[in-house]
Amino acid sequence: MADEKIGIAGTGFYVPEKVLTNADLEKMVDTTDEWILTRTGIKERRIIAPGETVSSMAEIAARQALDSAGVAPEDLDLIIMGTITPDEPLPSAACLLQARLGNTTAASFDISAACCGFIYALEIGQKLMQGGRYRHALIVAAETLSTVTDWEDRDTCVLFGDGAGVAVLSKGCDQGEMLDFYLGADGAYSSLLEIEAGGSACPISHEVLDQRKQYIKMEGNKVFKLAVASMVSSAQHVLEQTGLTSQDVTWLLPHQANLRIMKAVAKRLKIPVEQVYINVDRYGNMSGATVPIGLAEMDHNGILKRGDLILMVAFGGGLTWAASLVRW
Ligand code: UT7
Repeated sequence: MADEKIGIAGTGFYVPEKVLTNADLEKMVDTTDEWILTRTGIKERRIIAPGETVSSMAEIAARQALDSAGVAPEDLDLIIMGTITPDEPLPSAACLLQARLGNTTAASFDISAACCGFIYALEIGQKLMQGGRYRHALIVAAETLSTVTDWEDRDTCVLFGDGAGVAVLSKGCDQGEMLDFYLGADGAYSSLLEIEAGGSACPISHEVLDQRKQYIKMEGNKVFKLAVASMVSSAQHVLEQTGLTSQDVTWLLPHQANLRIMKAVAKRLKIPVEQVYINVDRYGNMSGATVPIGLAEMDHNGILKRGDLILMVAFGGGLTWAASLVRW
C-alpha cells in the first residue's frame, strides 16, 4: 500500500564502557577541566576498547532497536549507515553490520555526511521506503572518532567520543512519523573540518603519517559561527515547510558538538533551554551518532510522549546541515 504510514518503530544505542574524563585529558595535553567545561560543556566521553569497531557498536545498538520495534533481523530489507569512520574503506560498515545481524538480503550501504549522517540517512530511508518495496529499515549512525583523533592536539582531542545510535523504520507504524526534512551542504567550506589523508587525494604513506594528516583538523572558531547560523536556518526551513512554529516544538534535539552552540541555537529559535535534550556532558561530540543516541535515550527513559514534536537539527563537516521534524 503506497499510502501506508512510515514511522520510527524502535530505537537503540551503545556507548563503549571506557570513560575518558577531563582530568584524564589534563594528563595528556596542556588543558584544564575548567577550559573544557566552560568552552564546550563536556565532562567526559566514551572510547572504544581494542577490538571494538563501528560495526560492533552498531550491532549492539541495532539489536536493542530491533527488540524494541519487534522486528527480526531477517525482516530488514534496508540498512543505511552514516559514518566517517567505517571499520574498513571496503566493504561498507553497513554490510559488516548486516553480516553481524545474520541478515543476508537487505540493501546495505554507507553514507558520508559527518555530523548530519543520521538525519541524512533518515530521509534517504524514508524516501526509499515511500517509493519502493522496503518494509523495515535500519537507520544507523556510528562513529569511532577516537581512531581519527590526534591525541597530541589539544584543539580537537578534548572534543570527541565514540558511540552508535539506531532507529528502525517500519511501514504501518504510526509512532515517530517523519513530517519533513531540510538537508543541505556547501563544499566551499570543506577545509574547515577535514581528515586530509586516507583518500584518493592523499593516500596513506609514511610521510603522510609523519605529518599527522590522518587525523581530524578543525578551525573551531569559524565552524562555531557557521554552526549556529546553519542550524537555526535549517530548523526554520523545516518548520516553515510544515506550517509549524518553534512554539509547537516539544523537544529540540540538536547535534551535540558544544553546549554553547546548542544554547545559542535554542535562544535564536526561542525554545526554552529546558526543552533542549543535552548529553554532550557525558559523551562529547560523536559526530552523526549524537542525534540517534539522544533520541534513543529519550525513548528508553520515558521522556518522549505520543504526540510530542521533536526538532532534530545537525551541522558538520562538508560542510553539511540537516533538520527534521518528527511527531512521536
Ligand atoms: O561537530 C561538527 C561541528 N563542530 C563544531 O560545531 C565545533 C565548533 N567549535 C567549537 O565548539 C569551539 O570553537 C571549540 C570548543 C573547538 C573551541 O572553542 P573557542 O571558544 O572557539 O576557542 P578558540 O579556538 O578560539 O581558542 C581560544 C583559546 C586559544 O588560545 P589563545 O590563542 O586565545 O591564546 C586556544 O589555543 O583557547 C586555547 N585552547 C585551549 N586551551 C586549553 C584551544 N584548545 C584548548 C584546550 N585547553 N583544549
